[in-house]
Amino acid sequence: MLFPPDKVVVSIYNVITWKNLTVHCKDKHHDLGTHVLQYGGNYKFSFKPNFFARVTLYFCRFSWEGGSHSFDIYDEDRDDCSLCVWNVLESGPCMHYAKYDECFAWKH
Ligand SMILES: *[C@@H]1O[C@H](CO)[C@@H](O)[C@H](O)[C@H]1NC(C)=O
Repeated sequence: MLFPPDKVVVSIYNVITWKNLTVHCKDKHHDLGTHVLQYGGNYKFSFKPNFFARVTLYFCRFSWEGGSHSFDIYDEDRDDCSLCVWNVLESGPCMHYAKYDECFAWKH
């Protein structure tokens, strides 16, 4: 990414059918606490990416009945979005674009 945006919004949707999803996101300095999303529910947070160091990294733990995984939800090297929309499925999170979703498998 050449110029990171001034402000990034990460928006997370629970699309795990009929299950509640607990989301707990952090970066090195901030713990955003736990949020419970019902099926179809949304949780958003925003921050200013670190323009000079290019090190902004937010990771989240996603827990539901039958699963618990963590994922780097915003990685300044990987992501090129100012509104970063994720649909979280049992198989992994999908970055939502206008015409398609890019899905990732859980690694942790
Ligand atoms: C999800 O959470 C809501 C409120 O927190 C609760 O009323 C509901 O029973 C939960 N649903 C499931 C499927 O666990």
